[in-house]
Amino acid sequence: MTTVLKDKVAVVTGGSRGIGFSVAQALLAEGASVFICGRDPKVLQEALDKLRIASPANVDGSAADVRNYEDCRKVVRAAAERFGGLDILVNNAGVGVFKPIDQLSVEDWDTTIQTNLSGVFYCCREAIPLMRKRGGGYIFNISSLAGVNPMATGSAYNASKFGLNGFSEAMMQDVRYDGIRVSYLMPGSVDTDFAAAPGSKPRQAWKLTGEDVAKAVIDLYKFPPTALASRIEMRPSQPPRKK
Ligand SMILES: NC(=O)c1ccc[n+]([C@@H]2O[C@H](COP(=O)([O-])OP(=O)(O)OC[C@H]3O[C@@H](n4cnc5c(N)ncnc54)[C@H](OP(=O)(O)O)[C@@H]3O)[C@@H](O)[C@H]2O)c1
Repeated sequence: MTTVLKDKVAVVTGGSRGIGFSVAQALLAEGASVFICGRDPKVLQEALDKLRIASPANVDGSAADVRNYEDCRKVVRAAAERFGGLDILVNNAGVGVFKPIDQLSVEDWDTTIQTNLSGVFYCCREAIPLMRKRGGGYIFNISSLAGVNPMATGSAYNASKFGLNGFSEAMMQDVRYDGIRVSYLMPGSVDTDFAAAPGSKPRQAWKLTGEDVAKAVIDLYKFPPTALASRIEMRPSQPPRKK
């Protein structure tokens, strides 16, 4: 373990389950302090209880909906107040609605775009001034291979992740001279409850794990500050063969 993450302060949106929870665990293991959020207060509390077993003093969180700008403002400010500043933002909260276009409701569309795209902008807008105060920082946006590969039933999800990729690259150019690095990660299938009721999906060993994505976040952070891997594709090494 190196010490580059020791005493850094991170916000992980959607840190209550899945990939976000793994990223929170990995950051804590490296000595960072972590503030997580999610909509469901019960699930959030369970996650906080688990994370506090290993790191009682370095973890906190609050229920929040990233579709709501005021919620994002409160989360980012609460993290900075609790731990004395902000160095890292992991925009991970995301939803997936997969339906043919003629079955996609306006609500499906709005939920997807507001969560996966607007929520990222809201959190970045609040986080960047705090990172500038620290002389720099790192923003990780958890995108998807659906950000480069369109698929049937994926119109809303594809639009949100294609948009997120463009947003990330433009923002990276805006903030690079402030010492703020921006990377977007595009995993393929990850073994979580994504787009399903929690606990309802059978686990599948061929998929990436949340820990795999978390390792990429940690490794990227540890790159020399002069090097920026801005766009990362990750995929399962051996997915089932197509018949
Ligand atoms: N799993 C995959 O195959 C895969 C592949 C590529 C990319 N991704 C991306 O990875 C990210 C995490 O996915 P995951 O697989 O870990 O999904 P997950 O297991 O369903 O977890 C999603 C997390 O986001 C939170 N969340 C959802 N909507 C939110 C909102 N409006 N405000 C605040 N928190 C919210 C959830 O908590 P609540 O439900 O309590 O709000 C939960 O903590 C997403 O951006 C997803 O697009 C996933």
